[in-house]
Amino acid sequence: MNLLLAKDLSHTFEYELFHGVSLELSEKESIAIIGISGSGKSTLLHILSTLLQPDNGAVTIFNEDIKSMSKKSLAQIKRDDLGLVFQSHYLFKGFSAYENLEVAAMLSNQNIEDELLSRLGIEECIKQKVTELSGGQQQRVSIARVLTKKPRIIFADEPTGNLDKQTANDVMNLFFEYCDQNKAGMILVTHDETLAHMCSKVYRLQNRELVKVK
Ligand SMILES: Nc1ncnc2c1ncn2[C@@H]1O[C@H](COP(=O)(O)OP(=O)(O)OP(=O)(O)O)[C@@H](O)[C@H]1O
Ligand SMILES: [Mg+2]
Repeated sequence: MNLLLAKDLSHTFEYELFHGVSLELSEKESIAIIGISGSGKSTLLHILSTLLQPDNGAVTIFNEDIKSMSKKSLAQIKRDDLGLVFQSHYLFKGFSAYENLEVAAMLSNQNIEDELLSRLGIEECIKQKVTELSGGQQQRVSIARVLTKKPRIIFADEPTGNLDKQTANDVMNLFFEYCDQNKAGMILVTHDETLAHMCSKVYRLQNRELVKVK
């Protein structure tokens, strides 16, 4: 099944970032987007994840154009089906890591899985306050929070940017297994070409166009 379809997207801020951007994400598939700093990767991810309206073009999620969705069904899809792992973590700072996961579990009617915590190596630090965690621990807690929701589409912007190579690899494998087991898909922005090539498709944002490299 097709999870997300982008057709002919273009966007301009101070200058044109890109035009004619199209891609398609299916179940159990992962797409990596690479490109130099400032090329518009994060902007594209914001558009694909419904946070930003493109100047032109359309994004279709579960075969429905997001422009024609009611506010209510868009909010519901965002809450239940889209998982966002972005550069800043958006964890609730006053709470413990575990309480952050509890909120996500409660909102989406899911359970916190012990296996997820051990796969991410955060069982030890989970009772600590978010402000007491290292950058990489916070990053892994936000990944745990997103996966606890059981989303159908994961949007991840440099999700392993603060992690050492081995941990980054483990996290990527966790994402792939998650997609496989839950018929989900992932769109990943990264500077790391090795991690990018672990995905089923790789695109480069270059000269204002999205070029398929794998
Ligand atoms: N809300 C905004 N308003 C105006 N300009 C913006 C906005 N967001 C991004 N830009 C500009 O768009 C360009 C692309 O930014 P974007 O964050 O998409 O790049 P990126 O490819 O993700 O870069 P990086 O690899 O450094 O994260 C930059 O020049 C940035 O200043
Ligand atoms: Mg970026």
